[in-house]
Amino acid sequence: MNKNKVYIETYGCQMNVADSELVMRILLDKGYELTKKPEEANVILLNTCSVRENAEQRIYGRLGNIKKLKAGENNVVIGVLGCMAERLRENLIEKNRMVDVVVGPDEYRNLPQYLDEAFNGGKGIGVRLSRTETYDDIIPYREDGLSAWISVMRGCDKFCTYCVVPYTRGRERSRTLSSIVNEIKTLSQRGFREVTLLGQNVNSYRDGENDFADLITAAAQVDRKIRIRFTTSHPQDLSDKLLYAIAENPNVCNYIHLPVQSGSDRILQLMNRTYTIEHYLNLIQKAREIIPGVSFSTDIIAGFPTETDEDHKATLEVLKTVRYDGAFMFKYSPREGTKAYKMKDDVPEEVKGQRLREIIDLQQKISYEKNQELIGKEEIILIEGTSRKSDEYFSGRTDTNKVTIFPASEKYGVGDYVRVKITGATSATLFADVLEKISPEFFEVHKTA
Ligand code: 5AD
Ligand code: SF4
Repeated sequence: MNKNKVYIETYGCQMNVADSELVMRILLDKGYELTKKPEEANVILLNTCSVRENAEQRIYGRLGNIKKLKAGENNVVIGVLGCMAERLRENLIEKNRMVDVVVGPDEYRNLPQYLDEAFNGGKGIGVRLSRTETYDDIIPYREDGLSAWISVMRGCDKFCTYCVVPYTRGRERSRTLSSIVNEIKTLSQRGFREVTLLGQNVNSYRDGENDFADLITAAAQVDRKIRIRFTTSHPQDLSDKLLYAIAENPNVCNYIHLPVQSGSDRILQLMNRTYTIEHYLNLIQKAREIIPGVSFSTDIIAGFPTETDEDHKATLEVLKTVRYDGAFMFKYSPREGTKAYKMKDDVPEEVKGQRLREIIDLQQKISYEKNQELIGKEEIILIEGTSRKSDEYFSGRTDTNKVTIFPASEKYGVGDYVRVKITGATSATLFADVLEKISPEFFEVHKTA
């Protein structure tokens, strides 16, 4: 009998990337094969995002062009996973009859049964959320590589008024520290060099005994050649203990993604962000004192309900004060079921667009200036591959997550660390010359534990 072949496409955040790896493991264990070609598959899964309206529109568009595969000779089952599945549930099938399976983020263990139902001509729907499911015992399927995502907690309890995630991903719950550490040990043996610990609210991780600072410390001790990154942090849970843990562990990257969302206290309150700009700026300053050289990135929403020009100017002011290394910037998108959905979406589309453009232009100028300031400085780069534009150059990232391009050589290769001197910069990329390859002893010397 031919095995069932599954093709999976992932949208949205890195949590979804990690979830798709879980789904692949669950299906492989049931005898499925994976394929990278949708036309070869008889199961096509889209792991989806609902965070903004345009994310969902894109996925509807994609479902439209998958239709022709369904019409072909394979008896293709089409499944929608993730946040859109959770949000729209059976309505998704009503709206789009070619969808056979709808499975939300906490029901992936049952996906094989739902697929069986679909193969038997039914529709499979699994959208229960769980207070306990962490998939702690399932090792995600990962191809060999340098960089791995590990989801360490799921869900979100913050209820920012614009955000659909607490409804699509449910309440916060954390995996155990020991299983995460074991996963990193396996990755170390396979030659991975970078692990990103993931959670919607990663710094509120707690497994009953350990908090996120304990987890970061334990993760960093597994293999000092593995860089540890983490995302996303909420300003409310960025403790001093965590800042010291980042500072004390050389392989925990000096990079914090700390979304501010708006520069206006009034808007922050309407968003239920639970901090004021003064509190946020104090936090940034404290982090800079405890972790020398730390860099920050942020998320910004332009045009939240009732946002005035004055509120918008306050957001520009925060960008100028903090001088982030990077930012993800969005127009406000009303999401049904959220608290903000009940507020009038009263900032006209063109004003939202104009404000977003101003925010992007300012941030780009700041990113460019900050990168220019690095010219002449030394950085340690993990080599990730050849540059996209030319085989004669390697590409890698600094500790602070900046893409850096430098001449390739046989003396060093993918997975090595090199010390470089920055020679040039745009707003998005650094250029460098290599000074030396970092020896394995370097990582031993820097061991703190
Ligand atoms: N509209 C626009 N942006 C949003 N985000 C979350 N919800 C919305 C929304 N309704 C942004 C926030 C969050 C990032 C992941 O997406 O900035 O930090
Ligand atoms: Fe999108 Fe949020 Fe769901 Fe991630 S958790 S896929 S960002 S809606």
